[in-house]
Amino acid sequence: MCGIAATALKPPYRKDTVQLLINLLKALEYRGYDSAGVAVYDLDSGRIHVWKKKGKVAELARMLEKVRLNASSGIAHTRWATHGPPSDVNAHPHTDCLESVAVVHNGIIANYKELKEELIRRGHRFESETDTEVFAHLFEEYLRTSEPFEAFKRAVSRLEGYYAIVAITTKDPYKVFFARKESPLIVGRGIKGNFVSSDIVSLLGVSEEVAPLSDGDVGWLDSEEIFVESEGKRKSLSFFKPSWSPAQAQKGSFEHFMIKEIHEQPQAVKETLTSVISEWEKVMEVVRLMEEWTAVVAAGTSYHAGLVFSYLLMKLSGRFVPVIDSSEAHHYSKVLRGTVIAISQSGETYDTLKAVRIAKENGAKVVGIVNVVGSTLDREADVTVYTRAGPEVGVAATKTFLTQLAVLGVIARAYAGQSKEEVGAAASRLPDIVAKGISMSIGYAKELSRTLAEKRDMYVLGTGVSYPIAMEGALKIKEISYVHAEAYPAGEAKHGPIALAEPGFPVVIVWTPEDEDKLSVAHEEFASRGSEVYWVGPEKDIPFPKVEWHEVPFAATPPLQLLAYYMAVRKGLDPDKPRNLAKSVTVH
Ligand code: M6R
Repeated sequence: MCGIAATALKPPYRKDTVQLLINLLKALEYRGYDSAGVAVYDLDSGRIHVWKKKGKVAELARMLEKVRLNASSGIAHTRWATHGPPSDVNAHPHTDCLESVAVVHNGIIANYKELKEELIRRGHRFESETDTEVFAHLFEEYLRTSEPFEAFKRAVSRLEGYYAIVAITTKDPYKVFFARKESPLIVGRGIKGNFVSSDIVSLLGVSEEVAPLSDGDVGWLDSEEIFVESEGKRKSLSFFKPSWSPAQAQKGSFEHFMIKEIHEQPQAVKETLTSVISEWEKVMEVVRLMEEWTAVVAAGTSYHAGLVFSYLLMKLSGRFVPVIDSSEAHHYSKVLRGTVIAISQSGETYDTLKAVRIAKENGAKVVGIVNVVGSTLDREADVTVYTRAGPEVGVAATKTFLTQLAVLGVIARAYAGQSKEEVGAAASRLPDIVAKGISMSIGYAKELSRTLAEKRDMYVLGTGVSYPIAMEGALKIKEISYVHAEAYPAGEAKHGPIALAEPGFPVVIVWTPEDEDKLSVAHEEFASRGSEVYWVGPEKDIPFPKVEWHEVPFAATPPLQLLAYYMAVRKGLDPDKPRNLAKSVTVH
């Protein structure tokens, strides 16, 4: 939800500031693409220049292609609109009345209406409908009586809600000021200068070391130093070298990140399994924690991973753990106790973090299943087990899902009493199953996408372990191809959903060996009403290898991802940047 990047570069590199910020924005665009903007302090003219535009970063990049200002500091933003529709005027950065301040923000300023009224009474003029603009005027207001950092802190102290906020001012043009509350911000140290950004991925090519900020942190950076305070005291940050390489976050020869990331799944699953099994002590620690009452919280694709985990655990050990959609978790606060397993690829999903905080208030221990090292969930969890998917840039989660299943499968098996060797043996088949799931299905998925891309609605049915996989498949189809796909348990269809069955209505059935009869009955019920029924399974319309029931998620997920991908591509849509969505959902 909104991407922020800012920098102060050393003197020899200052003329690169605008182009470097554009590059950072390109890497951040998956956080929002309603508009993009850049502001820099130009040492030659002695003023702040702002460029901003509705639409994607590429349009802003074209506009700024030739700009090479001698900039001492700069900020940039990609927007996912919350307050005020996407437009040039609502695009960030926002400035004050005197053009002495430029601000970018991710989050929601809950008390912006009161602040805006107060500032208007004091004579400030507003241009946009955003909550962010109030901060520019607040900063301007306090700059009248305070030094820049003091003024910034005073302005921040007036904010209610949550924010990652970054600003520059003509009053101290070599510095970038920043503050964080419940929205991610990472600082980075590089050869060319210092940086602050919403995520690590954008910093990969420019920073040697990064350090995530914590809630309540406020500070500044210039080209030489990064200064951070917490509760009024100077704080030393723990910098680390990101394990991801810049090349991992590039598309390479693939047309889209999504297809690249689908193809990376066998390797990602393999690396994740190797990593988690090598940390067997940690797995056993999770198992011990699960001796207490345990609940799982997660959102979207991670929620589907939680459902697969719950099913697997129940089948292997008889233990049932509830899986709670994290946006609803506050209603279930009474059961967020004992041990809470929070699954999140980004580790920054607001709803999941909120559930974690409720759990901690209840005295629960939190286990995080996370892909981003140093993310908020990673830091707030008592134990983190990492998925090793590498950076996932496509907005639709693909490889992070299968790596979550890899980690959760190991935990479920260990809980069921399997030894490290037994778990290792079961896991060793999975990367190859994923690879075959891709290679066997790709041509068929591409072909069937021709028919399904034309449809408005469809069902995806499953049973047992294939039901949550059907849910994940339906989510993929919906979010990137905009075809309304709903998942149901195969046997549930006759209780209502079958009312939509008619000639031409498409139904996709996800095979599992657990209860083929149930799936076949659903097939007949729909086919006899003229529906087009397609199967994803061994020797079916979209084939994958014949596998055991517990391996179905690894075999069946890639064909559904590929189907969704090709449906989107056929419709001329960008599968990496589906409308209205952002990679990390950091607002509630
Ligand atoms: O980063 P998280 O795993 O916490 O994200 C949760 C969801 O926002 C995410 O899975 C979302 O549903 C994706 N768009 C799915 O493709």
